Amino acid sequence: MVRHLKFTLCALLAVGLILSGCSGPQSTLEPAGHHAQQIMQLWWWMLGVGTIVWLVMMGLIYYAVFAKRRAHFRQMTVWVVIGGGVIFPSIILTILLCFGLSLLPGLLARPPQGSLVVEVEGIQWWWRVRYPETLINERALGSFETANEICIPVDQPVEFRLRSHDVIHAFWIPALGGKVDMIPGRITRLTVHPYRIGLYRGVCAEFCGDSHALMNFDVRIVSQEDFESWLKRQASDAQASAESQTGYAIFNANGCGACHTVRGTSAQGRVGPDLTHFGSRKSLGAGIFPNDRSAVISWLSSTEHIKPGVHMPNFKALGQQQLDELANYLEQLQ
Ligand code: CUA
Repeated sequence: MVRHLKFTLCALLAVGLILSGCSGPQSTLEPAGHHAQQIMQLWWWMLGVGTIVWLVMMGLIYYAVFAKRRAHFRQMTVWVVIGGGVIFPSIILTILLCFGLSLLPGLLARPPQGSLVVEVEGIQWWWRVRYPETLINERALGSFETANEICIPVDQPVEFRLRSHDVIHAFWIPALGGKVDMIPGRITRLTVHPYRIGLYRGVCAEFCGDSHALMNFDVRIVSQEDFESWLKRQASDAQASAESQTGYAIFNANGCGACHTVRGTSAQGRVGPDLTHFGSRKSLGAGIFPNDRSAVISWLSSTEHIKPGVHMPNFKALGQQQLDELANYLEQLQ
């Protein structure tokens, strides 16, 4: 009895854990875009049909094992093999194939001319995000760069133009659409059409080296109004407050500007992520930690330990107070 109870509890726990992965910011089963919704439909159809086939097979196995043994006509057994082994699977697979193919034109269609374009480059192990020049209220907003965070407006199609800097990565926002490879020397495209405001998560879906699993990003889907104010803020130079001048001096003295850009200062490096509005981002280290001061300090003092193979050296030698000042400077780059 106790053993039974334990087994039931374990089974319930396992089912609970599995189902808990079906929702949240990184779920294909809780879509926030039209493309992901179609992919989810296909998934449910495949699951449904697969379950029916499985149940039929289990029934046949049960029959084969437990039914009373008796002779069958040879012709009937031949038809069971041909019908069950060739005709039935061919019909089922053809139906699923046709359904899958019927979704393709919609999933691969390019958005209308003039739709928002966002360029994303995969780099071991982070994402360079570039917004080309945009028009807001007939005023041109210059292009700008950010990193590891994408903001797009709800209810309109967006085209991602994808590139890779080094190896093959794959761009995937489960709540918005399918996966697309990012291939060195080529530009690939992905269209999404979000319909729900919220904060979602994207990942790299192709093994790309030691820290492949630590290559994530945040996706904000916001109203058109919020998107415009986000664009304006991100396109502007950094506004550093006076208290953080010590932090900026440390940033400068340690050569951070050789790899990172902070627009509006002398830091113009192109190797690492643009930090102009670093403090406004939700996460740190390509979606590893929530972006707060203690996480920034941990990151600065043990980059290699947190993200094996990362190109950024650690700055442990700076000491606690200097790290504090540096984190303070970065955090207020809003
Ligand atoms: Cu980039 Cu995996």
